Order: sequence, then C-alpha cells, then structure tokens
Amino acid sequence: MQGQTQDLKDRYRLLSEIARRRGFFWGSFEIYGGLSGFLDLGPLGTGLKRQIEDLWREFFLARHGFVEISTPIITPHRVLEASGHVENFKDPMTECTNCHRRFRADQLVKESTGLETEGLSLEQLGSLLAKVKCPECGGILGPPQYFVTMFKTTIGPYGEDPAYGRPEAAQGIFVDFRRVYEVMREKMPLGIAQVGTVLRNEISPRQGPIRLREFTIMDFELFFDPDTPDCPYLGEVKDEELSIVTEKDRLADADRTTQITAGQAVTTGAIKSSWAAYFMALSKRFLTQLGIQSQYQRFFEKLPTERAHYSAQTFDQEVKLDRWNWVEVAGFAYRTDYDLKKHMEATGLDLRVFKPYDSPLEKTVRVVRPDHEKIRKQFGSDAGKIMSLLAREDLTEKVRGKRPGQTLEVGGNDVPIEFFNTKEEKVKETGTKYIPHVVEPSFGVERLVYASLEHNLRMKEDRLIVSLPFKLAPIQASVYPLVNKDGLDAKARQIYEELTADGLRVEYDEAGSIGRRYARADEAGIPLGITIDYDTLKDDTVTLRDRDTWVQVRTKTDRLRETIHMIVNNGFPSETR
Ligand code: GLY
Repeated sequence: MQGQTQDLKDRYRLLSEIARRRGFFWGSFEIYGGLSGFLDLGPLGTGLKRQIEDLWREFFLARHGFVEISTPIITPHRVLEASGHVENFKDPMTECTNCHRRFRADQLVKESTGLETEGLSLEQLGSLLAKVKCPECGGILGPPQYFVTMFKTTIGPYGEDPAYGRPEAAQGIFVDFRRVYEVMREKMPLGIAQVGTVLRNEISPRQGPIRLREFTIMDFELFFDPDTPDCPYLGEVKDEELSIVTEKDRLADADRTTQITAGQAVTTGAIKSSWAAYFMALSKRFLTQLGIQSQYQRFFEKLPTERAHYSAQTFDQEVKLDRWNWVEVAGFAYRTDYDLKKHMEATGLDLRVFKPYDSPLEKTVRVVRPDHEKIRKQFGSDAGKIMSLLAREDLTEKVRGKRPGQTLEVGGNDVPIEFFNTKEEKVKETGTKYIPHVVEPSFGVERLVYASLEHNLRMKEDRLIVSLPFKLAPIQASVYPLVNKDGLDAKARQIYEELTADGLRVEYDEAGSIGRRYARADEAGIPLGITIDYDTLKDDTVTLRDRDTWVQVRTKTDRLRETIHMIVNNGFPSETR
C-alpha cells in the first residue's frame, strides 16, 4: 500500500501490538479472559476517535447547517417493529451438531467456498453448508435458522415492556423528525445527525476491531422534498472521480470497478439521488483526510437482495485493509419515505411537511353537509352533540355508498341519510403536504479509527511510525526536557503550558532516554517533538523534531508557535538532523 513498505507484513498484528503498547485499543474485559465483539479504546484511541468525529462534523454538518441530536439507546419494541427491524434484522445461524458452537452460516459458506452469500435463502444456504465442516471441531453443521441480531431487554422491574438496544441511530432521528423540523423553523431540506452507540448481537464475531457487537455510529438523515430532489451542492464535487463496483456489473459477474465522476453518476442514473452522489464524493475526500488514499477506497453497490429492508439503493464505502481486504466503513442508503411512512402508520400521526403554493389554488369540491334544521327537529336536545360529532368526521367518506332509507350511526343516534346534503363548493387550497424522502450517510467510527491507523502505519529503518495527520493526532506535540534538572524541566513545563493554552494538544514527557521517548512518540503518532536542552538556557532555542523524517531544526522559543504553525501548513523545513 502507498507509503507502506514491503516490510510491513501483517499490519493488523503490528498495529494491534502498537495499539496495546501505546494505548490506542485492545479487546475488552481483558483481565476476565476477553470477549469477542467488544473493543476498548485507550487514551490515544479515544482521542483519535474524537478527532475523527469532529472532522466528520466539519465535513458533513457544519457547512450545511445540519443539526445533531441525541436519543436513547434503549428503544421500545413498538418503534423497531414499526421500522421493520424486528422482522428483518436477523442473520442466518448454524450450530455444530458435535461441539454445539454457533456460527454465521453465510460467512462460513463464503469463507470456505468463496461464493457470495448475501441474499440467499435458508434452503440455499443449507445445501451449501453441507459441504462445509465446523471450523472448531470438524463436525457436521446443522440446518441454518434465523437469529434476531438485536439485543433484547425489558424496561422496568416486571419486564412488561419489551425493548431492544438500538441497532441503528437512525430511528431516534425519524421518531423526532417532526419536533426537530419545527425547532428548525420548518426549513427543508433538513439534515439531522446523531453520533452514538449502537448494539448488534453478532453471532460469532472473529474480526477483532472490525466486527463489533457494540460500536459508535455517526450518521445523518437528509430529509428532502421528492419533487425537488436536486442537491444544490453537487456542482462543487461534480468532477470528483468515484470508483464504483456497480450492481449491474455484479449481476453480470463482471469483475470490474467503474471510474465515474459524481456528476456523471447522477446524469446516467448510476446513483439515483444527487444528494447521495454529493455525500459520496465528500466522503471520499473525508477518508483521504484520514490518510486513506483514494486507490484504497471504493463504493460497492448492494444488490436488491442484500440491501437493508428500508433502502431503494445502497452503496457501501469500502477501504482496503491488509488482513480483511475490502471492508465497509460507511453506507449511503436512499431510504425514500419508508421510515416516516411506517411511523405514521404505527402512530396514526401526520409527520408530513406542508408546502405552500406560490399562490392559492381555487378548487371546486363536492362536500357533504348535515342539515342542522332536520337534525334539530328529530333529535331535539341531542342535536348539538350530534352536530359536534359530525364536525370531526370526513362526511364525504362516511356517506359514500349509502342509499336513501339508510342511516348513519352518530353517538348512538341513527341519523337518516336524507339529513345530509351534497353540494359543490369553491375552496382555496394554500398548499400541499408530502412525506420527505431521505438519504442517509452512515459511518462506523471504530472501523474508521482502525482503517486510519492502518493506512498511516509506516516503517522507517526498523521502526514503526503511526503517521497520523497533524489535525487528527490525539497528541500533536510532545515536550521533552533533555534531563530533569538544571532548570531544563522548569523551562520545558513553561513551554508545555504555553502551547496547551494556545489550543494545541500537547503532552509533557520526561520519562526515559530521549531516544526511547522519540521512539515511543513515533508509535503514538505524535507529529512534533520539542526538546529543551542546555543550549535552550544559553540562547533560548529549542529543537523541533519531525516524526516522519526525524529531521530536526532549532527555533527560538519566542518563534515556536509561529514555527509550528508554518510546519503544519507547509510541512517540515528540510534542515539537518
Ligand atoms: N443506519 C445505518 C445502518 O444501519 O447501518
């Protein structure tokens, strides 16, 4: 891979060692023997995650005026039933008839036969499984069956309210759409984002930080009017080249990646929504800023059988990783009006958006009106109640198909159909209502943390360097007193405090020989080292060391901030070591 020498064999193993040693990540519950599918982020991993999230906010939210919300992880059964997750969020599972371990049936088949398995029926998987043996004991595998991969729980002490850990953050956004739309003063298009934990009870995760049962998703739902679906920002990225493995090529078994600009992809209909095309192009740039060069990124279009139940078109953004080949780090789904419609059906509430006409339309409509006089004469003191009940009804609908002689039951009274008059009336219609359509970009944060680390892993001489870009580095500079005496430590502390106050992410490191401190900083991804030595006391200069080239320059302490600023913008000056 680019910038990564041939010596870097098995980057996952190398990175896992660094990650554990320096504090990026490790498997959870280590001292209890560990638990697959769970990952702890250490101080550096947590810092890197925060920087990635903030960069994402800059890229996708801030510049478009999109807003961020926060909703609960525990989600009532009825919400996820309405959204279709209870019915569809499941994976095929097989159990070994000998050792009784359980596995993802489709993954076992894919690993042993190389065949694509997404979208296969249980029967098809069952016949393919006949050729596969249990990876643990070699035993015969049982017939596959579905396993709901949401974590189930109940709310309250009596367990009367079933619920799940949310498998996606999106449903919190759909449930809140109406309120956020009102809070945002009813402006469309509207982007609503959420960054938070999601839970998926994966059957047998065996891919370290890549397949987690609990992870952070950052996504947003872009709500727009389907009658004006064009993304106004597309022009900004129209020439951005996207590498796409299209549904068409996959169906034709053509092993091909198409290079197409975001603009062409929309014109040719390869990407159905111009909003999706815009976000995909933006995301390519976002990943590039994480240090993942474009040749290691691609968009992989899902087949109809593979797409989530809510999606009309989905592209996974994939990154090439050393151990696992192409791995999804983000998804772009065109969810249409699916989710809002489902929540409208389930709650009976109107979640549509009102769109005023430029000028009101005058229309002639047939209306049905009750004859108050006749009702009063027949029902006397009950007439008022009957009239107010009738006012709440759609009478055109109510009397449809009724014939003279029949009645309409109203609050226990049988009102003859002859007591209703149908007339034509002129009305002014000021606008119409629509259910917004949605495009959803969604990112797995831990996967981005891992992919960014792997793609920034370098080797120089025989040493490993995590070459994180300055903006992302959890620690941007380390301040080192050469020795902890003679006033060098006090001077180093003063510089550390000044740089921290200036907004840089700085650490103070006085432990061990200076060579060991540099080596540690290289693995911790710290771009700059600032060393305070005896010359500092004489001429007020410090050494600035570049992590990637190990080049060193001296600079006056009163020009330190300016020099760092220059280095960040223009790169390290090529001075001597
Ligand atoms: N909502 C994105 C996902 O479920 O992956």
